[in-house]
Amino acid sequence: MKRIVVLVSGEGSNLQALIDACQQGRINATLCAVFSNKAAAYGLERARLADISAHALDVKAYQDRAAFDVALADAIEAYQPDLVVLAGYMRILTAEFVQRFAGRMINIHPSLLPKYPGLHTHRQAIENQDTEHGTSVHFVTEELDGGPVILQAKVPVFADDTEEDLIARVQTQEHSIYPLVVSWFVDGRLSLQNGQALLDNNPLSERGYAED
Ligand code: GAR
Repeated sequence: MKRIVVLVSGEGSNLQALIDACQQGRINATLCAVFSNKAAAYGLERARLADISAHALDVKAYQDRAAFDVALADAIEAYQPDLVVLAGYMRILTAEFVQRFAGRMINIHPSLLPKYPGLHTHRQAIENQDTEHGTSVHFVTEELDGGPVILQAKVPVFADDTEEDLIARVQTQEHSIYPLVVSWFVDGRLSLQNGQALLDNNPLSERGYAED
């Protein structure tokens, strides 16, 4: 059985989607542990409720970002994960951390990358009067929100949308595409080779599998 470690900083609704998919056999893997940089993250509670080891690392206990990331990476490695899943983990990673998990770490970001890396993506989409927004699952590389895209989902943006409306619409899509991508990885269908995402040995395009 493949082993997965998940990192969260907040609500953990994407973690919940992964827990449900594992329990229902849609992902053929074990969720070994959940880590957070926030002790109060509800995602940790979701892990505990599902009998998954839950750990918080206190940023203030470490001298700097590098020391924190080394400690986090060591703690993750202890679980010998095949895949590390960032699910709303809102902390910039050091290059060393990224390199340790290269090719086995994925992230979900609420925009149609390469559009809107960084924060407040929904607000930007509304302010720019975009007619569509969405979410992207990608391999993590040293470039923030810049690694090869695996799968995207689009949603419409309506004229009277609030930021909360759009966040909810995007998250509904996230909860279906993230478990799907994780299942591809654990089934051995997905890999990162020479900076290129491959699905069933076919290179994925810049917009991932779902480009239309
Ligand atoms: C998700 O919408 C995810 O796309 C976003 O944080 C949210 C976490 O929600 N991630 C990022 O913005 C990463 N740059 P959740 O805690 O309910 O899964």
